[in-house]
Amino acid sequence: MGIDVVPVALGARSYEVRIGAGLIDRAGAEITPFLRRKKAAIITDETVAAAHLARLVAALEAEGISVSSLALPPGESTKGWAQFARAVEWLLEQKIERRDMVIAFGGGVVGDLVGFASAVMRRGVRFVQIPTTLLAQVDSSVGGKTGINTAQGKNLVGAFHQPTLVLADIDVLASLPPRDLLAGYGEVVKYGLLGDAAFFDWLELNGPALAAGDRDARHYAVKRSVQMKAGIVERDETEEGERALLNLGHTFCHALEKATGYGDRLLHGEGVAIGCALAFELSQRLGLCSQEAPSRVRAHLRAMGMKVDLADIPGDLPSAEALVALMGQDKKVVDGRLRFILARGIGEAFVADDVPPELVMGLLAEGLRGR
Ligand code: GLY
Repeated sequence: MGIDVVPVALGARSYEVRIGAGLIDRAGAEITPFLRRKKAAIITDETVAAAHLARLVAALEAEGISVSSLALPPGESTKGWAQFARAVEWLLEQKIERRDMVIAFGGGVVGDLVGFASAVMRRGVRFVQIPTTLLAQVDSSVGGKTGINTAQGKNLVGAFHQPTLVLADIDVLASLPPRDLLAGYGEVVKYGLLGDAAFFDWLELNGPALAAGDRDARHYAVKRSVQMKAGIVERDETEEGERALLNLGHTFCHALEKATGYGDRLLHGEGVAIGCALAFELSQRLGLCSQEAPSRVRAHLRAMGMKVDLADIPGDLPSAEALVALMGQDKKVVDGRLRFILARGIGEAFVADDVPPELVMGLLAEGLRGR
């Protein structure tokens, strides 16, 4: 299928997302044109380092680029002040300057943390994203949202800092545990649901092959998702309006993630999938769409072997009231009202600020009774 290039047109901050098999081995050639001197610093995590770092370093060194690397512990708990400080200080020790390049090599945690470190280091250095999870390839590596978590909540400290280049190597997805791949698929489905009914049709047909390892299906799904994200980011870089559509399923997801402790019980992408199913159900109850829409969403997620209902989350969950209270702490709350992304049908999402809380509570209570 070769390499596809998806431009993200943001004036002086424009860049390309390149998608294809074998891009890690070509990383030196891809990155060299952006270097003012041949020096780069890679920050990754220990899991990605064990599987892929030697290959990336070899690809950069083959082009004469001098490289140093730092591997952080894997997992969401890395995305906080301690490892952020470690990353920034390490970059300073490596004498990385504004003419050099930082490389974020990993999933969403690494991409967000390293992007933020690059945003503040010497008041901003350039960085390349080489995302190694499906979730990072289709969502977090594109669009310039960077940041870390604090005791007060997720992603509350950060900056918009666009990368200089994104390299999404399809082959790297082959080393993902199936659960992580499917969790990332939750974000892929989200794009079809929020704005492209034909893409959702395509996913219904091709999702199983994608999950089973079909490279062409993976390539197309990443490309279409990135095209959609690029378009939205171009029109609304700093989330004044349309970019909020990317949060389809996320109001429910954030509450469920908080309730389950941001860990193995519920991965982010799994929460997004459950959240999308709930958002469509809510839309139907509000008379916005027909019953067919939530039924199709649920049927597809089921066919993919994904979590669909609150009943699919292991362990105890708090009451519906407590879950709605957790939503109220979400940073996207505007003037104390809950914000939901609802839909008039598959591919027709919009932002709603006036959803009756009783309806949300009722929906969640029913889901909890089904457990
Ligand atoms: N992940 C949501 C966004 O980039 O806006």
